[in-house]
Amino acid sequence: MDKIVIEGGVPLHGDVMISGAKNAALPIMAATLLAPGEHTLINVPPLADIRTTKRLLGEMGVAFQEGEAPPGESGGVPWEAPPLRVDTSNLSGWEASYDLVKTMRASVLVLGPLVGRERRARVSMPGGCAIGARPINLHLKGLEAMGVKISLHQGYVEADAKRLKGAEIYFETPTVTGTENLMMAAVLAKGTTRLKNAAMEPEVGDLARFLVSMGARIEGIDTDILIIHGVKELRPSTYTIMSDRIEAGTYMAAAAITKGEVTLVNAPIPHLTAIMGKFIEAGVPLTVEPGRLMVHPGGSLTGVDIRTLPYPGFPTDMQAQFMALMSLARGASVITETIFENRFMHVSELRRLGADINVSGNLAVVRGRRQLQGAPVMATDLRASASLIIAGLAAQGTTEVLRVYHLDRGYAHLVEKLSALGARIKRMPA
Ligand code: EPU
Repeated sequence: MDKIVIEGGVPLHGDVMISGAKNAALPIMAATLLAPGEHTLINVPPLADIRTTKRLLGEMGVAFQEGEAPPGESGGVPWEAPPLRVDTSNLSGWEASYDLVKTMRASVLVLGPLVGRERRARVSMPGGCAIGARPINLHLKGLEAMGVKISLHQGYVEADAKRLKGAEIYFETPTVTGTENLMMAAVLAKGTTRLKNAAMEPEVGDLARFLVSMGARIEGIDTDILIIHGVKELRPSTYTIMSDRIEAGTYMAAAAITKGEVTLVNAPIPHLTAIMGKFIEAGVPLTVEPGRLMVHPGGSLTGVDIRTLPYPGFPTDMQAQFMALMSLARGASVITETIFENRFMHVSELRRLGADINVSGNLAVVRGRRQLQGAPVMATDLRASASLIIAGLAAQGTTEVLRVYHLDRGYAHLVEKLSALGARIKRMPA
């Protein structure tokens, strides 16, 4: 297993290209199951979760082919992913095995499209994960409202969808993958489905636009009421995946904590409003041009409070990275996590670097320090690992981040991108 070693204290400088969004690519790859034929997906990020999704779909008979990579940048590293051709002509299965679901919960995203196209699915029930229990009761309740018979056998959700029909569905709490699963089932259902209190995350909108490009009829995209008129069939499509707002926010934090001057290229600026607002409030100067976001060196950072909320609120997926930034701000910052019940696992590791953070329930109070000190640290999930990288970039001395496989799930070319910005960072066997 590898580790990442960082010598902190170097201000980052230069341009960084933001990759395609993991959480848009995953449901869009699953959605290709809905239409037989050859789809072309552009801007699929090179990530472990994408490889897992290929295995998952591959087990159902889906074939993949990568096109030519566009010319590389920064020393020949291909930041831009080659187009991915996905051939869903011959499906030979409708099962997501425990082996894959246990490594990636997002595997559950095949449930909706399998129910839509095959009228049946067998998907291992995901267990809890490091950040919370993460039930899928709302996915299942919504499918039942659409006439799908759901049963649980030996840890597998079995869905029989012979009578898939439109329904009125209200989500008690907005759920991203729940909204995505039900939208993917509804596009091929008989009649109209209304999803109320739907998740409005931009990745849900990206999936909806992909479905529309395949011939689906969806109204209310990017709002909390999605109206889906079922159609008889869909056709394969070519689609460019949006860029990753959480990767963008992570590089913003890396630039700001090192007092660097970094331009994010292909930044999804309209989706960064809440994040940018908090950076500005904390004293980080930002300027924007179309598709480019510049982070400038400012004076000292000021502690600001954040509260994670469903979109358009401040994303839970940026909470850990922002906490790392706040650990070097002047004054206190109160961070409230309202989405997941156990998403402060990075706190004890940030403390190992010298951060002053107290947690009480879903509140963390960060008292900014003048300096952090490098140390070996490890993390339990993707965004927690990113926060340790950010802290390590600013800490005095050497920080070693263990369990790098978490980062591989969600950050494309992380070490190469940070090195190109001047960071002293390398990956090596642990
Ligand atoms: N919830 C339920 N019942 C359900 C579904 C969700 O109670 O049936 C609750 C969850 O326990 C949680 C809240 O609803 O408290 C919101 O969870 P949501 O379902 O929206 O999360 P998710 O769809 O499982 C996606 C992202 C996560 C991101 C969350 C919140 C993907 C593949 N994953 O998860 O991304 O944190 O939305 O925005 O899109 C990450 O990228 O690091 C990551 C964890």
